[in-house]
Amino acid sequence: MITIKDKREIELMKHAGLLVSKMHKFIKPYIKEGITTKELDKLCYDFIKKNDAVPSCLGYEGYPATLCTSVNDTVVHGIPGNEKLKNGDIISIDVVIGYKGYQGDAAWTYSVGEIDDEKKYLLEHTKEALYEGIKMVKPGNRIGDISNAVELCANKYNLGIVKELCGHGIGLDMHEDPDIPNYGEKGKGPRLKEGMVICIEPMLNSGSADIYMKDDNWTIKTIDKRPSAHFEHTILVTKDGYEILTPRLDEED
Ligand code: MF3
Ligand code: CO
Repeated sequence: MITIKDKREIELMKHAGLLVSKMHKFIKPYIKEGITTKELDKLCYDFIKKNDAVPSCLGYEGYPATLCTSVNDTVVHGIPGNEKLKNGDIISIDVVIGYKGYQGDAAWTYSVGEIDDEKKYLLEHTKEALYEGIKMVKPGNRIGDISNAVELCANKYNLGIVKELCGHGIGLDMHEDPDIPNYGEKGKGPRLKEGMVICIEPMLNSGSADIYMKDDNWTIKTIDKRPSAHFEHTILVTKDGYEILTPRLDEED
């Protein structure tokens, strides 16, 4: 069932979304060579708690951390640990924050120091695919219009689309209907209506789309070991378009 949020719920979701934005802004300066992903996780846990909010990933289906920290060839759901970031790495930070029960969800892939041209290209065009998808959000359009826009963008740049995972509705639950695949046909799928809230989240690979799950049952990696990027926003469907509930608060992006 796809839920429609009323005015009060939208206010709470805006608050949750803004906390997600603020957390990303807060953690960005710490993403430097030498820090461990566990240290990043602890900083974000404390930040969320200080803001009277809930780190919703922690304990979700047994997930052991506040953040998903996915480095280089990890696509998504990397578990924070003791590995140190190195110059030239990319790291996607994915977080879900709850405020009075309502959830906000955004992922961003950051570079550590100076990255090579392959990674620059991947980051630039995965972000572009996210915004191409977002541009399709307005009442009357369909989920397939979003999916198709993301797919066309990924294909244009010859990036591998991870098909096993997708975007989703969001509200009191972090994952609500509908599913939002990163590939699909225009004009197909549920129609968007004012008051829906959805997460669009392309996961694109530099090389092949093929992935596997590590035996920790969470970490998803590329089989060819080439890098993968993930960008995600929480989006409200408005009367005549959309509003990004997890806006970037940085000047450069
Ligand atoms: N933020 C992820 C998503 O976009 C979910 C994280 S998985 C969790 O769906 F288990 F860690 F919560
Ligand atoms: Co999500």
